[in-house]
Amino acid sequence: MRLTRLPRKRLANLPTPLVSLDRLSHELGGPELWVKRDDLTGIGMGGNKLRKLEFIIGRALEEGADLLVTTGGVQSNHARQTAAAAAASGLDCVLVLSGQAGPAEGNLLLDYLFGAEVIFTDIEDWDEREALLREVADSYAQRGRRPYVIPVGGYSLEGIAAYVSGFLETWNQCLQLGIDFDAIYLASGSGGTQAGLAAGAAVFGQRVEVYGVDVVPEQDGLERRVRDGARDFLDRAGYGTGDLAMTVVEGYGGPAYGIPDEATWQAIELVARAEGLVLDPVYSGKAMAALIDHIRDGRWGRGHRVLFWMTGGQPALFTFTDRYRVIRNTNI
Ligand SMILES: Cc1ncc(COP(=O)(O)O)c(C=O)c1O
Repeated sequence: MRLTRLPRKRLANLPTPLVSLDRLSHELGGPELWVKRDDLTGIGMGGNKLRKLEFIIGRALEEGADLLVTTGGVQSNHARQTAAAAAASGLDCVLVLSGQAGPAEGNLLLDYLFGAEVIFTDIEDWDEREALLREVADSYAQRGRRPYVIPVGGYSLEGIAAYVSGFLETWNQCLQLGIDFDAIYLASGSGGTQAGLAAGAAVFGQRVEVYGVDVVPEQDGLERRVRDGARDFLDRAGYGTGDLAMTVVEGYGGPAYGIPDEATWQAIELVARAEGLVLDPVYSGKAMAALIDHIRDGRWGRGHRVLFWMTGGQPALFTFTDRYRVIRNTNI
């Protein structure tokens, strides 16, 4: 398997910017911080899944699909980017979302805007939901459609290959700027993005540790999915099974998936007020809370350079209006 020969549908605005966070670095008094703006990948309001979808839709089109079927929570960024990417590729899209059909806000509003068909389910379990996805796809196939099933979070060989490619893109930017990084921090959910970055570092022989912050408290199997996914890519691409420099960071998932704790809000507010950069409360805010803790604990300090990989997710922010409920109006 060769990265350059994998089928690919160009959708994302690449390369995404690599930007220094001078004011945040100064505020935290620690390492030099940079951000990779994968929230700016473009269509559908951007995010990390668009990189994956370039390779996933490339494969789907090659197989003659006319319909994408995927799953996620009601506020899934993966589902919203799939709906947008399907629209931009001339494909139909069916989303099986776990949770209640609440108000059409945030990502769900955008799912409808992009013309996706939305089916709600109360099944939360990952494997059971994937089984349901296959049933939904079969029912469309029986009606003469050609569905292509995208697993939870776009976790697949194609998705991982996309982030090996994302690593290469960043490495090229680093070469131009004459910099390198000691660590990369990002939010990890299905683990595919982290797996791709860790595999990318191994492919290009870079000594950078990839820290994936688990956004789901007490999630089983994230570390295994990241390792297995990275190893599978390296194996199939002929790079052997060398050491992987990756860590899954637990303890920052908050009370539940999708629910931020106070540390997450403080991280989001710190970054917004220092840099005007908008993080999200479900993924990147939790990852930033972990990075800030690691800086305050002294793991990273002056002389280090750390890259925060911003994976997007901002539409969900607009479902958290309670955080800034106006208690008292002052008329001047
Ligand atoms: C904004 C955001 N960040 C990070 C992730 C995690 O990516 P992965 O599923 O590849 O671990 C997701 C996944 O849905 C996401 O929407």
